[in-house]
Amino acid sequence: MKKIVILTGAGISAESGLGTFRDEGGLWAQHRIEDVATPEGFARDPQLVHDFYNARRGQAGSARPNAAHAALARLESEHPAEVVIVTQNVDGLHEAAGSKAVIHMHGRLSAALCAACEHRWEAPEAMRPDDSCPACGAADSRPDIVWFGEMPYHMSAIWDHLREADLFAAIGTSGEVYPAAAFVQDTDRHGAHTVELNLAPSSVVSVFSETRFGKATEIVPQWVDNLLRG
Ligand code: APR
Repeated sequence: MKKIVILTGAGISAESGLGTFRDEGGLWAQHRIEDVATPEGFARDPQLVHDFYNARRGQAGSARPNAAHAALARLESEHPAEVVIVTQNVDGLHEAAGSKAVIHMHGRLSAALCAACEHRWEAPEAMRPDDSCPACGAADSRPDIVWFGEMPYHMSAIWDHLREADLFAAIGTSGEVYPAAAFVQDTDRHGAHTVELNLAPSSVVSVFSETRFGKATEIVPQWVDNLLRG
């Protein structure tokens, strides 16, 4: 086995205390997506959007990686195959657990982006609409988050990794949002073994050749132990 590609979603960070989106009482039950996760919503009320991400940035800043994040970091350091994590999550828990090859396809709470010149910098815990860009001075900054209707980041690199994957795993994601939800079809088509590790079956569970259900902090370390035993 030469390459393992792992897609993660909010479910892997749930046991670190960070909310998921579509579970009972999740973030999309508390906030309207069109108000806090679209460019139009940001244009309409930038303070409301900053309040939403400032709160999540604070929570993510005090969250700690859990046993699932730690297991994936161990897999990367101990397995002979190349291990690449493609995460939909905007928290930094994979990196905090020690994972090195992490691609954030939906952006990162820890970064601020200048909409005028595309400069990125370390976001303050509380961003404000009139924050100016340290590079060009424009008062046109935003959270470095990919909103609905925007292109996810690093897609050509991600497709390359998926094409080369011998093993594809999806962990803690509901399979409701594309293009991430199509990764399993793509890797399956290229002959990879595919496994879903989730609390409940995702919308694309039928495409996976293997499924493991349970809490990430339990099933992910077991899965990694199996892989490292060979
Ligand atoms: N262990 C494992 N899986 C869990 C756990 C847990 N402790 N808790 C929840 N889950 C699973 C749920 O069963 C669900 O399938 O995690 C998944 C979370 O799904 P979503 O809330 O839809 O999150 P995600 O799939 O990451 O959303 C994808 O949607 O709103 C956008 O940009 C946002 O990146 C996000 C994208």
